[in-house]
Amino acid sequence: MSTTAGEDLHEANRGLFSSRRVFILAAIGSAVGLGNIWRFPYVAYENGGGAFILPYLVALLSAGIPFLFLEYALGHKHRGSAPLSFARLSRRTEGLGWWQVGVCFMIAVYYAAVVAWALSYAFLSFGRAWGDDPDAYFFGDYLQAGEPGVSLDFVPGVLIPLLAVWGVLIVIMALGVQNGVGRTAVIFIPILLLAFLALVIQALLLPGAGAGLDALFAPNWSALTDPVVWAAAYGQIFFSLSIGFGIMITYSSYVKRRTDMTGSAMVVGLSNSGFEILAGIGVFAALGFMAQASGVAVGEVATSGIGLAFVAFPAIVNEAPAGALLGFLFFFSLVLAGFTSLVSILEVVISAVRDKFETSRLRATLVVTIPCALISLIGFSTASGLFVLDIVDHFINRFGILLVAVVSMLVLAWGVRALPGLRDHLNTDGSVPVRGWWIALISVVTPIVLGFVLVRELVTVIQEPYGEYPQWMLFTFGWAAAVLVLVVGFLLTRIRWRPDTPIHGRGREEE
Ligand code: ALA
Repeated sequence: MSTTAGEDLHEANRGLFSSRRVFILAAIGSAVGLGNIWRFPYVAYENGGGAFILPYLVALLSAGIPFLFLEYALGHKHRGSAPLSFARLSRRTEGLGWWQVGVCFMIAVYYAAVVAWALSYAFLSFGRAWGDDPDAYFFGDYLQAGEPGVSLDFVPGVLIPLLAVWGVLIVIMALGVQNGVGRTAVIFIPILLLAFLALVIQALLLPGAGAGLDALFAPNWSALTDPVVWAAAYGQIFFSLSIGFGIMITYSSYVKRRTDMTGSAMVVGLSNSGFEILAGIGVFAALGFMAQASGVAVGEVATSGIGLAFVAFPAIVNEAPAGALLGFLFFFSLVLAGFTSLVSILEVVISAVRDKFETSRLRATLVVTIPCALISLIGFSTASGLFVLDIVDHFINRFGILLVAVVSMLVLAWGVRALPGLRDHLNTDGSVPVRGWWIALISVVTPIVLGFVLVRELVTVIQEPYGEYPQWMLFTFGWAAAVLVLVVGFLLTRIRWRPDTPIHGRGREEE
């Protein structure tokens, strides 16, 4: 395909990963995150244990990998950030890209806070600062979370690590695609793998580890007839694979032309799931130990989300031989995994601003990260941070990521009929042949399944409002946040592209 000199210059200025290996490591760095280490083990345990593996694999193969193919095709073919890739496909779809940018902005502000907590806890592990009551320590002494509400009382224990996280992030993002994003993944991912393997081995050697694994993997086959379990599997796959955020569109736009994108997607998808299952083994081996040490069932020590990482793990650290090392390895892994995901989430926003306003990397980085850091610091290093985080996370995962994924599939399949062109692009250099099955999955099967998941979530959240929060908080940080990203996203499409941005670039199919 011939390209114009303007397009080539534009592309070179945007940045490129130096090789396919760097791209794959960056994509794995994005996928492997907090979702793998603290979310997957509990979701699997809650939703049928060993039997959950079946819906999980079905979700991976029927929706996760096919959607990853779609995002790779879009970004690699149209060579732009999410809004630019959509705009090049058809100007009418640009808003979908901005919607994803809004979702990423929202996620970045709270994701950074969790990375900051993990950073504190990695160091706190050495002195077991939480004493005998990690629960009271985390919610009380550390987060200073009182009653749900809004507070502007800064909590120094969170503020300082959060400032450090944003400081390092700003430097990395300013360094650019290869030197910042790519190099971070190349350095962090092997260290993460080693740290996590050491953690899993240490956990497996603890007395009682087998009981934990039995609890995780004992299959409850009746779960397979429960739609909630299937919904959990699809939700987990989207968050965990970083799809529906625009991340994979952005990253694949930095990959050299003539690259095997389908083979890359298989490597990323399977590595992410491999890491997730390893995390399940490590976390449940440690929980099995804890259950045995306290003479209770594993179910009683397995708590969800934030509690699992910041309450159950410190309790394990208190009891386990060489507990400080176990704690450090666990929280350090969370920091590394979370950090590389955070880099990818921010890259979606920076790349979009850079493409739209044709501005320098440094300027785009500062324009995006400074407001993002300020909101993150004000919102999450205050005493109300925990509540706001919990609500935003709940709503944006469902009515941000999953909703934008369903709408994009329907628009691409039925609105602008882009799937055959994207399929042909994947097949040009791809090692996995993409045929009619992919089009059927993306245009019919996955939207129906995800649509069902979403409707169910909507009915649940209307029938029983989430958590024990006041209505106004759910409205402001939940519904309003989900609607805001949508509205702001579509307003941004009103801004014209700069004359030197080649919208009518290669691979463009229609106006
Ligand atoms: N994929 C990232 C995670 O699992 C966002 O946390």
